[in-house]
Amino acid sequence: MAKNIDIQIPSFVFGLIDKYYERGSPSYRILLTHSILVTRKALQVAERMKRLHPDIPFILEASMLHDIGICKTNAPGLGCHGKDPYITHIIHGRKMLEKEGYPKHGLVCERHTGVGLPKAYIIKQGFPLPKRDMVPTTTEERIVSYADSFYSKDPSCLFHEKSVEEIAAFLSQFGARFGKTFLRWAKEFGDA
Ligand SMILES: [Fe+2]
Repeated sequence: MAKNIDIQIPSFVFGLIDKYYERGSPSYRILLTHSILVTRKALQVAERMKRLHPDIPFILEASMLHDIGICKTNAPGLGCHGKDPYITHIIHGRKMLEKEGYPKHGLVCERHTGVGLPKAYIIKQGFPLPKRDMVPTTTEERIVSYADSFYSKDPSCLFHEKSVEEIAAFLSQFGARFGKTFLRWAKEFGDA
């Protein structure tokens, strides 16, 4: 059983979420629930990875803010009524956090999808994203990205924690290397 972790979220994180989301709205509830679950998972992993000296306060903050860009996208199922395609939440999140003075957290937004989006994959898929590597590089970025894969924002299964095998199979649909990278992380992070 996972060890309980004392999560103390700094007030600036709630200040940022409150700035872009209406308290009690569907998008607020989904974002907050998802972010707390991802944060808990990321902190559990960070706790196991102490030998790498991860920046735990940063992981907590960045996990809470990694999806802040969803409000700018058109994702009615998540209560988001922006104009851009959902995939752009990663660059919207980066821009929003840069504007707010948190560029390092912004990079986590940009790099957290799956095990990351390499430039060549963005081009091949024709994603409406800037053509650059959006792949987690630091230990902290990798831990947030890894933790995020365990939870969906689908309101019908927000609380369901997927298995490592389930996630690897899902990511492999987009390319075998994505599933392999996830399995390598799972081994490194002590889940497999
Ligand atoms: Fe997420």
